[in-house]
Order: sequence, then structure tokens, then C-alpha cells
Amino acid sequence: MSEAKRLAGEKAIDFVEDGMIVGVGTGSTVAYFIDALASIKHRIRGTVSSSEQSTQRLRAHGIEVLDLNSAGPLALYVDGADECDPGKRLIKGGGAALTREKIIAEASDRFVCIIDPAKRVDVLGKFPLPVEVIPMARSLVAREILRLTGGGQPVWRQDASGNGVLTDNGNVILDVHGLAIDDPLSLESTLNQIPGVVSVGLFARRAADVVIIGGEPPQLL
Ligand code: 5RP
Repeated sequence: MSEAKRLAGEKAIDFVEDGMIVGVGTGSTVAYFIDALASIKHRIRGTVSSSEQSTQRLRAHGIEVLDLNSAGPLALYVDGADECDPGKRLIKGGGAALTREKIIAEASDRFVCIIDPAKRVDVLGKFPLPVEVIPMARSLVAREILRLTGGGQPVWRQDASGNGVLTDNGNVILDVHGLAIDDPLSLESTLNQIPGVVSVGLFARRAADVVIIGGEPPQLL
């Protein structure tokens, strides 16, 4: 599967143009994109990163990482996904970076999503939907998600040692199991309204513009 991720990540280089500031997502597929970006780093002005993890990898390659506030609107954002439906709507946040990813996607003219074929689904929701939550609101938000989704089971994300995962923003993640999301736009909006929710890992309002599915050759949606 990592071969498909590599092929998707490398194909995304075709979308990078000279002088761009490139938005960079998070995850193992994006890691391949970052490694490929290193070979053309002299052609770009820099990057804006969606996580500490990606920032470290970019800097290790000597690629400049800029603050979004000074970079302004971006021409291109490249990121992976946990699920992608035929409308290029996504579930993201498996790497707990959903909030910064959403911000950069919103700030970008073109969102190129890089996935392996296993991420394609007809209906989103088999992958538990990540929701980033202010820590003090964890139980409240969990109860509200139960009530509003009528069947969604929120689970507090823990690491291998049983400690609650903290995002780069110091918040917690609830992974909502058992959803079959037939109206992603509506669910994104509904969950966004719960006080204490920072962001929802549904990318429906701002879906991908182009999806690259890794393979020989890569396919474009
Ligand atoms: C991180 C993400 C990632 O894009 C998503 O989890 C896919 O990761 P990978 O490329 O490792 O399969 O949303 O928050």
C-alpha cells in the first residue's frame, strides 16, 4: 500500500508551479510528497505546514516553512485523506491534524488530495469520523454527538499507553464510529454547531478539487 501512497505523493509534484507557496498536509502519503518536493525546493517560495510532524520533515529537507498569516492566500494545498467519496468529499484527521488542515484547505485555491485506492468509498463513515474538541467539553460534545447522529458512537482517542491524544492545538479527539454519512454537508454543519467542537474531520463544504489515486499509472478524479 505504501507504494500506492508514494506514487500519489510524487504525482502531486505536477501541480507545483514555480514561485508558489505550497500548503502541505500531514500523514504517510504526504511524507512522500514532501520528499519529492525536496528535489524542486529551489523552485518554490516556501510552504505552510499543517502539523509539527510535517514541519519537522520539511525543515529536515531544508524547505522553508512560513506562517499562514504572512503567506496570505495559497495557490495549492496537497494533503491525504482517510476516506474519499465520488464527490471528492473527505474524512480526514486520522493523524489528528484536521483543524490546521481545514484552515489551510480553506485558504487555498486548489486542494489536491493524494490517496491510495483503499481510501475510495461510496459513502463516508466507515472510517471513524474525527472531531477535535476543547478538553473541558469532551463529555458534553460526546453526549451531543450521540443525540444528534442517532447511532454515532464517539470514542475518546488514546495513544498506545492509554493516554488521551492531544492535538498540536492542545485539544482532544473524539472518533465517531458507526456512521453512514449520506449528507456530509449537513452533518459537517450540524456537528460544527456544538459548543466545544473546534473542527470536524468532514471536508464537504471545502472538498478536494483534484484527487490523485496512487497506482501505475496514477488516476485523477
Ligand atoms: C491527518 C490526515 C491524513 O491525511 C490522513 O490520516 C491520511 O493519512 P495517511 O496518508 O497516513 O494514510 O488527515 O490528520
